[in-house]
Amino acid sequence: MNTILPRSGDGFLLRYFAIDDAQQFVKIESCPENKKYLGLPSGSYDDQIARFKKGVSNKDEFYKYFYAIEETSSRQLIGRAGLVKLASSPEEFEVSIVIDKPFWNKKFGTKILKVMINIAFIECKAESIHATIHPENQWSQKLFKEYGFIQVGVKNIDGNSSDDDDLVFKLTKNDYDSSTATAKELG
Ligand SMILES: CC(C)(COP(=O)(O)OP(=O)(O)OC[C@H]1O[C@@H](n2cnc3c(N)ncnc32)[C@H](O)[C@@H]1OP(=O)(O)O)[C@@H](O)C(=O)NCCC(=O)NCCS
Repeated sequence: MNTILPRSGDGFLLRYFAIDDAQQFVKIESCPENKKYLGLPSGSYDDQIARFKKGVSNKDEFYKYFYAIEETSSRQLIGRAGLVKLASSPEEFEVSIVIDKPFWNKKFGTKILKVMINIAFIECKAESIHATIHPENQWSQKLFKEYGFIQVGVKNIDGNSSDDDDLVFKLTKNDYDSSTATAKELG
């Protein structure tokens, strides 16, 4: 892994996960809203801890851009942010961000999504970034739209469409570059 870490941001830093993060990671993912919005696999507490530990020790390409979010002042683990290369195309990445509920609505998501977009387009040389978002997850949709993501479809896993299907959002490098350029021109 040659990714430069930790990356410091305003009030947070991104680093790799450690085995000691297991309990807090599972606590964050177990919040009912996160479970519902992310469609996380169920399982006992012990199963979830074991799955996390397996992931941390498995340092392959999949985890290269999978980061722990740490709040700088408290040094507390407050979430995760990841980029995964889509199997369908090496230039397309899927981004996901999960923040511990007590830390929602404090602008961490806004700041971290910007960092992840830059990692995807600059470091990973992605041509586009995807995000799958639950239809009831209004704040997440709002956040991604702010950065120019547009809805391109729905993720229909079992072939039967339903109101619960995740929405698929996409941001292309060209659109992001031109929106950034426009923002600069406007001052
Ligand atoms: C979606 C998520 C990452 C956003 O992170 P966040 O740190 O709460 O987001 P921000 O504080 O940067 O806010 C983003 C926007 O959502 C709004 N928002 C976020 N939480 C809110 C709340 N509880 N009440 C009202 N508005 C809220 C903010 O007002 C903001 O809009 P603004 O820019 O117009 O002010 C976070 O809420 C989360 O982890 N949710 C559960 C997991 C998830 O849905 N992940 C996304 C799928 S990839």
